[in-house]
Amino acid sequence: MSAADPTLVQEAARRRTFAIISHPDAGKTTLTEKLLLYAGAVGEAGSVTARRGRKAATSDWMEVEQRRGISVTSTVLRFEYDNVVFNLLDTPGHKDFSEDTLRVLAAVDSAVILIDAARGVEPQTEQLFQVARARGIPLMAFVNKYDRPGMEPLEIVDHLTEQLELPLVPLTWPVGIPGAFRGVIDRRDASFHRFTRVTGGSAVAHEEVVAAGDEIDEEDAPAWAVAEEELELIDVDGAEFDEEAFLSGEQIPLLFGSAAWNFGIGQLLDTLRDIAPSARPRVTDDGTPRPVDQPFAALAFKVQANMDPRHRDRVAFVRVCSGRFERGMRVTNARTGRTLALSFAHEVFGQDRVVLDEAYPGDVLGVIIGGDVRVGDTLYIGSEVRFPPIPTLTPESFVTVSNRDVNRHKQFRRGLEQLDQEGVVHVLRREHSQDPVPVLAGVGPMQFEVAVERLKTEFGADVRTEMLPWQAARRTDAEGAAKVLADPGHTDVFVRADGTQLAVFPNRFIMDRFAQRNPTVRLERLIGAD
Ligand code: G4P
Repeated sequence: MSAADPTLVQEAARRRTFAIISHPDAGKTTLTEKLLLYAGAVGEAGSVTARRGRKAATSDWMEVEQRRGISVTSTVLRFEYDNVVFNLLDTPGHKDFSEDTLRVLAAVDSAVILIDAARGVEPQTEQLFQVARARGIPLMAFVNKYDRPGMEPLEIVDHLTEQLELPLVPLTWPVGIPGAFRGVIDRRDASFHRFTRVTGGSAVAHEEVVAAGDEIDEEDAPAWAVAEEELELIDVDGAEFDEEAFLSGEQIPLLFGSAAWNFGIGQLLDTLRDIAPSARPRVTDDGTPRPVDQPFAALAFKVQANMDPRHRDRVAFVRVCSGRFERGMRVTNARTGRTLALSFAHEVFGQDRVVLDEAYPGDVLGVIIGGDVRVGDTLYIGSEVRFPPIPTLTPESFVTVSNRDVNRHKQFRRGLEQLDQEGVVHVLRREHSQDPVPVLAGVGPMQFEVAVERLKTEFGADVRTEMLPWQAARRTDAEGAAKVLADPGHTDVFVRADGTQLAVFPNRFIMDRFAQRNPTVRLERLIGAD
């Protein structure tokens, strides 16, 4: 494959691979459905959730998800609109699964921060925003739930600017106060888009466009006048959209709407089409960007077992970074040096699988794997290439996990290995002690619940977990580990399968005290806003 492959470059240019990041309840599921509705991918809103629900109900380990009413698994939604292919990577809602979100963010080219108009920036939005920012991902913000009482628009702009510490540029501006929302002014051409409510929000909302200078309805005139005044204040601030600043993650375009009432969804979709970056050259671990028309290379960002009980298999989600994927192609795994055939590659739509024959940079494939593929692996053809490792979050919860049935020791070990590879939890050991009981580490206790359930249903291993008293951890080296273990305070050291040593402490206060007393000891955060 050479630079003379115009189809490949064109296909990469029409991809928009993005995620929506938000705090639970901000409306991510609703917005996702409405984007699909507006793109024409579904005829009626609600069908995706229904499909997801039905499939999830048949899967054993997803019972946790069902019971808790949360989304545990990341899936990929692909839809086409106006000759643009959108790959929307779903991110789990609960904080205990934020590490999954981290991996998803390694696979996207941009992200939408979804904000509840009444609640503003919430803790999880903040954490994910920091991660996205650290990766330099271009971000846009959508202020949702404008149909009900919340902050006034100028107040929201101030709030977001203060919380996110980045300039925000409104592309649309709401007409009418939250709760009496009439429509938006599109700042690019000063037109007024007046929305009409659709019962239940299941169909595209009727939108009347009043061009700049045309007469405004008497009923809308007062609200429209207020919006105009507010926009003058925004204009005085000089907040102009700057594509370069947006693409380098230094400026956030802002839109207003209501996912439930289908207000502002068309504008968001058009904005994603117009300004969200397409699949661009990805930086490899030697720091050089790899042009999209180089031979095939993809990043595995998620590995999941038994997604569908009818298949009982493992699926690796890979993001194509360069080249064309063709079904049946043999690729090399950069970590193991082994080759594998991508014979069963699927496009994943919710839980439904469609066999894919080809895919282009920006696309995400679910590849069924028999061999050893882990999160962070690079699969390639031609000369060796590796993408940088995906960062992990610093764990904050720890439990010991012991096998209750000695006859099932093999299953227990295999299960733990699988969960570790998938990154469901981190499996740690205490190398310095005779105690062989493995330790599970995660961001929150719900991860352990999923792990225990999967050990039971998929591996038939009956396990017992016991909470450990550690709430803070830092990466350290051999010297640091020795110092930590010698400390009279309550500390310990665990080792990950990749050799990373983690010093653990009962809480942050004790950890900080230890760090003060031992200034030369290496103590590093993995990543995240802890
Ligand atoms: P999530 O995936 O981010 O967790 O949020 P989800 O879409 O499930 O939405 C959370 C709740 O917020 C839902 O209400 C949903 O209907 C509501 N919601 C989403 N967007 C809007 C909006 O623009 N305006 C208003 N007023 N509400 C919105 P629920 O009561 O939990 O469920 P449901 O019975 O409405 O489905």
